[in-house]
Amino acid sequence: MSTSASLRVAAIAVVFFAVHSLPSRAQDVALTPPMGWNSWNYFAEKVDDQGVRAAADVIVASGMRDAGYVYVNIDDTWEGQRDSNGVLHSNSKFPDMKALADYVHSKGLKLGIYSSPGPKTCAGFEGSLGHEEQDAQLYASWGIDYLKYDLCSFIPEVMQKQAPHDPPAQMRLMHAAYAKMAKALKATGRPIVFSLCQYGWDAVWEWAPSVGGNLWRTTGDIEPNMYSIYANMSVQAGLASYSGPGHWNDPDMLEVGNGELTLAENRAHFSMWAMLAAPLLAGNDLPHMKPEIRDILTNRDVIAIDQDKLGKQGSRAYVDGEVEVWTRQLAGGALAVAVLNTGDTRYSTHPFHLYLSRLGLHGPLTGKDLWSGKEMALTEGMPLEPRTHEVLLLRIAEPK
Ligand code: GLA
Repeated sequence: MSTSASLRVAAIAVVFFAVHSLPSRAQDVALTPPMGWNSWNYFAEKVDDQGVRAAADVIVASGMRDAGYVYVNIDDTWEGQRDSNGVLHSNSKFPDMKALADYVHSKGLKLGIYSSPGPKTCAGFEGSLGHEEQDAQLYASWGIDYLKYDLCSFIPEVMQKQAPHDPPAQMRLMHAAYAKMAKALKATGRPIVFSLCQYGWDAVWEWAPSVGGNLWRTTGDIEPNMYSIYANMSVQAGLASYSGPGHWNDPDMLEVGNGELTLAENRAHFSMWAMLAAPLLAGNDLPHMKPEIRDILTNRDVIAIDQDKLGKQGSRAYVDGEVEVWTRQLAGGALAVAVLNTGDTRYSTHPFHLYLSRLGLHGPLTGKDLWSGKEMALTEGMPLEPRTHEVLLLRIAEPK
């Protein structure tokens, strides 16, 4: 073999072994928006080992797992103290995290956990600052599959202290903190979904993928009321191009089944999160879930919109008074259309007409109403009467 040929073979071998010995890439996880459950929205600091096991049991028994809910995520307040070697221990609510992970895995589910790049988490528990590699290794040794990394005390304790009155430098510190944990997670060799939680600061959608994020919160904390749900939803308008397989805009976890939300509101919330290709992390009290809430969370047609392989987030197509029309392109040329009445007037119904031409469509068409399951004939200018906080969610298989 000539020298140049041998060099070529050697170079190919080096590339081959380099590629095949790499830990899994961030993009290999979350090819569709992550689905699962998170403890925070309902249980907050009351989460414990028994509660997480109970949630896992219900995810299986209710059919949620089979509908796609896989991640069982422990949010803040699980953290205990570090020992003299800096190794973090879970607190008394979680006596054996490895055993819990084994239990969750035995159900065909995955376990998620929570930390902060700062010294403390939002609830004042131990954060990962200065222990990033150690914590990532610990998570991997327990069998953790998902990390939510919440900025919180990193703002006053690092950004403001190290770069006072210098916002650009503060932002660089924030980017670096997320990149550091992403690198530490990658170095474990375990595929771990990396969820950025910093409330959308510094147009996070522009830089999150480059620091290894699989999803990133775009907003402040959601609450179980329609004002909060609309507010978080509205921030997503215009962000569609930043979302896609492996990297998703996250308008926050679901409030379906929480607070005083009506059935129509729960359906509207779930529908719009599906239109937004949002992560579907239920946040309700699973052991006490009502059948109608289970039916919403397990509506396969709506989940199929969220999980559509094309991974193209929906956009607001037009607004008519209080009614908003959103569309989402789906694989195979299908189109999802959501007609949502955001109005708060309980006594009147907006005289709304659906203009297919405003969606780039030509009627007549048929679409499947994903909440009634019925086919609907769609014509140009047809009157629709979505009531207050009600959604009409359609899948049009063959738009013209
Ligand atoms: C922040 C996050 C919430 C939750 C709490 C926990 O507020 O945005 O989603 O994780 O911290 O303390």
